[in-house]
Amino acid sequence: MDCRLITAAVFAVTLCSMMVVAYSADVNNPGNGLHVGFYNRKCPNLEKIVIDVVAKAVEKDRKLPAALIRLFFHDCFVKGCDASLLLDVTPSGEPVEMLSPASFGVRGLEVIDQIKARVEQECPGTVSCADILAFASREAVALSGLPRYEVPAGRRDSRTSRASDVILPSPTTPLDELIDFFSRKGLSLEEMVALSGAHSIGTVHCSFFDYRMYNFAPGKPKDPSLNEVFAAQLAQQCPAPNTLPAEEAKKRVVDSDPTTPLVLDNHYYTSLMQGRGLMESDQVLAIDPRTRGEVAKLARSDSFARAFANAMIKMGRINVLTEDQGEIRKNCRKFI
Ligand code: HEM
Repeated sequence: MDCRLITAAVFAVTLCSMMVVAYSADVNNPGNGLHVGFYNRKCPNLEKIVIDVVAKAVEKDRKLPAALIRLFFHDCFVKGCDASLLLDVTPSGEPVEMLSPASFGVRGLEVIDQIKARVEQECPGTVSCADILAFASREAVALSGLPRYEVPAGRRDSRTSRASDVILPSPTTPLDELIDFFSRKGLSLEEMVALSGAHSIGTVHCSFFDYRMYNFAPGKPKDPSLNEVFAAQLAQQCPAPNTLPAEEAKKRVVDSDPTTPLVLDNHYYTSLMQGRGLMESDQVLAIDPRTRGEVAKLARSDSFARAFANAMIKMGRINVLTEDQGEIRKNCRKFI
């Protein structure tokens, strides 16, 4: 290994993660009552605490940024960015969001708990869990190599969490429904394609895509849109059904982007154009005429960082609770 290269790479990531970039007018858009600098006076060290806790946790688990970004997506897309996903139990006693099958593999809550514990010591009863999640996911983005964008804040926490409210797209959701789903949350087709770029990091369980190699359709075991060389590589990581003990097969995961699995970059789009998308819901973006132009644009230009940050900021505004709505939880897992 060339140490000069490593030093240069570490320096570049450090520099990148120290910058705060005010992307787009949307950051200062007063919509939904959120604004940048909400905690400047109420809890001035909040962002430092988030940066510190997330950085230490990522040192121990390099795959944590992906988990935190997914946590934010799953929270925001179910009844809004209100930390309902973090609740273990609610007064109604109904099964909570985390118990829904769509929450399979969602993790990273302990880091939110650690941030909350430090923030409660410094500024008790002031910072919502929903805002902590927004800042932590931004930090996850920064630690994955994109510039640190500013986070509008002022969200409050919900008092409910119901597994029955969890309706999220799955890897086999057709594109029409995906587009409709995102548009009902106020997100455009371009924003949907940009946010899907989150799949440039993290891992996917084989069960979400192995049917594309072994059991795609009657008389057609392989998905023709899956690159053949890639399919052969995947088959080594995800063996055919019934060739492994069920418990072991269930645990098998594959990096979403094998070339740069820890870096949020536009390789995801290049891979899609080569038929190397893991999930059908990813691959279709490079095939359908409605989205393939956007995929090609993000693959060839340097606009991904900006498009992704803007779309994350917009996602963070979905159905937020503000002012006297909801509450500020003391413990992110518990309703007061
Ligand atoms: C377009 C519809 C989407 C579908 C169908 C979808 C589906 C999935 C599935 C099935 C996984 C694998 C989970 C596992 O095996 O543990 C996954 C992982 C992930 N998703 Fe999505 N997702 C979508 C959109 C998004 C969006 C909008 C974001 C964030 C902005 C996102 C962020 C992630 C991340 C970061 C991971 C990796 C998590 C980890 O490694 O812990 N996804 N997604």
